[in-house]
Amino acid sequence: MALRFEVLGRFNRARAAQLTLPHFACQTPLFMPVGTQGTIKGLTTDQLEEIGCQIILGNTYHLALRPTSELIDELGGLHKFMNWPRALLTDSGGFQMVSLLHLADITEKGVTFQSPVDGKPMLLTPEESIQIQNRIGADIIMALDDVVRTTITGPRIEEAMYRTLRWVDRCIAAHKRPHDQNLFGIVQGGLDPVLRDICVRGLVDRNLPGYAIGGLAGGEDKDSFWRVVAQCTAALPEDKPRYVMGVGYPLDIVVCSALGADMYDCVYPTRTARFGTALVPEGVLKLKHNAMVNDTRPIDPTCACMVCKNYTRAYIHCLVTKDAMGSQLLSYHNLYYMLQLSRNLHSSIVEGRFPEFVCDFLQKMFPKGD
Ligand code: GUN
Ligand code: ZN
Repeated sequence: MALRFEVLGRFNRARAAQLTLPHFACQTPLFMPVGTQGTIKGLTTDQLEEIGCQIILGNTYHLALRPTSELIDELGGLHKFMNWPRALLTDSGGFQMVSLLHLADITEKGVTFQSPVDGKPMLLTPEESIQIQNRIGADIIMALDDVVRTTITGPRIEEAMYRTLRWVDRCIAAHKRPHDQNLFGIVQGGLDPVLRDICVRGLVDRNLPGYAIGGLAGGEDKDSFWRVVAQCTAALPEDKPRYVMGVGYPLDIVVCSALGADMYDCVYPTRTARFGTALVPEGVLKLKHNAMVNDTRPIDPTCACMVCKNYTRAYIHCLVTKDAMGSQLLSYHNLYYMLQLSRNLHSSIVEGRFPEFVCDFLQKMFPKGD
């Protein structure tokens, strides 16, 4: 195992831990910004360090197409290629294909898709996904899973769950760098507690260094989402990290952390920034709104980030949609907000004031109690 997971504090099911990876010792709960193409759009790696980012997520699928994993390998791995000294995680690629390309076709061999480069059919197998991720060299790599939307029902959910278990064995067998890369398995099984249970047990038996809960944040209601997370975290080992994939909104991260999850990733903070939306304790602030034209306050007067120290809402309103600097400043602030939220979750759990932190968070976000 190429990681150490030390729980530093607990409050009921919530935990705060130190997750020591080959390139960085991270504090959990942990938010991972998504840097699809080997970059967080609009931010330099110096800025990411400055806001306290500890780990970035990259996508195998995008990196394998361009610049290709062979080239990244030849140039010394992704850390060096993108000038990022801290931790990296790569997702296995199947989910991106299925969610981005409706033409993807899944069989026992792997995921077949049409190359967006030349239109030729390409096959991503579990072995190939791991080989690519071994070349990219991230601290955490993900097993290739068969992902179905949580909103569908029927035998396809069961098929995908069992296939995910069969594929994880092929991933384990193909993994060439267990000494310096951690292979995480992904729990699938839709919203069905029986299937989720079979999948969790199957993965725990395989004794992997960490586990992810997949197949969520795909349009299911919050109640079902939280129920699956609660079931999986309760059944996963206490001494290993638990990662809820594709989550999420600040509120989801607070709730999932209360349920015992440790790691999250989401494009939301940076994507919403590009549409002119800032994350603030009250929820969101739309910088495109006409009320911002002459508003000389910072985005969030309580935020200590570089953007809030230096720029007004009026200025960002003026830039948004007209100049890349607008979305860069908003991405910077939004990621700062998410990372600060992670740090606050960590310290409130360690210091035994997690309930007070959650109450305060909820009160600001829902002042009328609705
Ligand atoms: N990203 C968000 N959800 C998932 C999932 O279920 N599997 C994978 N591999 N990536 C994801
Ligand atoms: Zn700010």
